[in-house]
Amino acid sequence: MGRPHAVGTGIAVVALPSFDDRLPRGVGDLDRITGGQIRTAVRRGDFSGERDQTVLFYASEGPNRVVLVGMGERGDVDINAIRRAAAVGARVAVKAGAETMTFSAISAGRKVSPEDLGRGAVEGAALGGWTFEELRTERKSKADLTRVTVLVDEAARTAAARGRRIGDAVAAGHLLARGLQMLPGNFCPPSHLASVARSLGRRYGHRVSVLRRSQLEREGLNALLAVAQGSAEEPRLITLEYRGGRGAPVVLVGKGVTFDSGGISIKPALHMEEMKFDMSGAAAVLGTFETLGRLKPRINVVGVIPSTENLPSGTAVKPGDVVETHLGKTVEVINTDAEGRLILCDALSYARKFKPACLVDVATLTGAIVIGLGHTATGLMGNDDTLVDELREAGERSGERCWPLPLWDEYRELIKSTTADIKNVGGRAAGSITAGWFLREFVDDDTPWAHLDIAGTAWHEGDAACPDGPTAVGVRLFSEFVLSRAG
Ligand code: BES
Ligand code: MN
Ligand code: ZN
Repeated sequence: MGRPHAVGTGIAVVALPSFDDRLPRGVGDLDRITGGQIRTAVRRGDFSGERDQTVLFYASEGPNRVVLVGMGERGDVDINAIRRAAAVGARVAVKAGAETMTFSAISAGRKVSPEDLGRGAVEGAALGGWTFEELRTERKSKADLTRVTVLVDEAARTAAARGRRIGDAVAAGHLLARGLQMLPGNFCPPSHLASVARSLGRRYGHRVSVLRRSQLEREGLNALLAVAQGSAEEPRLITLEYRGGRGAPVVLVGKGVTFDSGGISIKPALHMEEMKFDMSGAAAVLGTFETLGRLKPRINVVGVIPSTENLPSGTAVKPGDVVETHLGKTVEVINTDAEGRLILCDALSYARKFKPACLVDVATLTGAIVIGLGHTATGLMGNDDTLVDELREAGERSGERCWPLPLWDEYRELIKSTTADIKNVGGRAAGSITAGWFLREFVDDDTPWAHLDIAGTAWHEGDAACPDGPTAVGVRLFSEFVLSRAG
């Protein structure tokens, strides 16, 4: 073990599992340079390694500040606990104005490999150390956490560095997505998402194409156009292609509504500003392409982002209007606030041209999912149990958990229309599932498809590990999913 307190300036974060009264081995050194403060804190019951517990000490050597972070029960400590501890430590670091942080874990147990340690530490530091100062003229946070050093035993160094390389790439994708989520509608219209995609293309060699209104008309993406017709901002359909291997691509489709007022079926004013984050699915896809560009795994991945605003005006789509979608099915627009499924249905049918190995869409789709699963889990549905299980497992490993909901035939009844092939809402009952069923109508039965409803998980109320605001949900999940497919 390197000496956690003896590296550079900044702050030393030391994570440890819970213990009874005897200090874990390896803390002794720290106790000595803090003049016995640690032993005292433990004796007084101020620190026992409980999950999220922190305590700050001042040392006579090294970076001077040492934060102990609890990880909870030793037998349960895995990469998720490491990531969380690093996030909690990074939050303390940022609040303390530290620009650099070292991270080490003492006595982490057998479930944590050196790779997990390297990867979890940097992913967690991005999660907890994030700040957003872009739109202030005077900074609020004291400093940016610019460097994280992971301390491991000599023997574990190569493996930890391997994990760290992945973690750094995932963290970069995470930070890209989170910054985009934070941008308000006037800073992040559809054309901005397109320019972010293009700059990823330039940087990493992804092929990027952007369809504008006239091209969308020619291609017949009429449901996307219907949502866009109330807004002065031009819609876009953005595709990114990463070619790293052989075979059919994984296709990721992200909802990119840059502001959702509800349209003619307008939302209440209270908290409407939060609907700037209705492009979180798009952000997750763009973030994933940042990660892919850095890691270059052996797999093919395509991203498709339908993007528009949803506003009311004299030209806006109206309740009762019928739209002929890209696939040809007709849709009765009952509620203009159910716009996400309208833009996604065209993107899903457009995505057929890539002959996907599997198709996964990600969207802040329904308020109902927030009622069902809260902010803890992403809603997961699909037409293929294997794909659903694969995403669930990727969710467990990445710390972005997903929970399945059934797409049984009975629910399909709820979106039958009296006028058109289907309608865009199914009433209050099973709101997330009827939204999922609507999307399924546009996917070929032979293509494994899954839908992720991130309305509850894309934004978060704030806790010890993550300040309140955007979470970049989907980037870690997709990165894990794609990397494990690439082998
Ligand atoms: N973007 C919203 C979903 C949403 C709601 C996300 C609350 C986060 C918090 C979506 O476009 C929407 O408005 N959905 C409606 C659908 C309804 C009209 C069937 C909803 O959930 O209320
Ligand atoms: Mn809406
Ligand atoms: Zn929406």
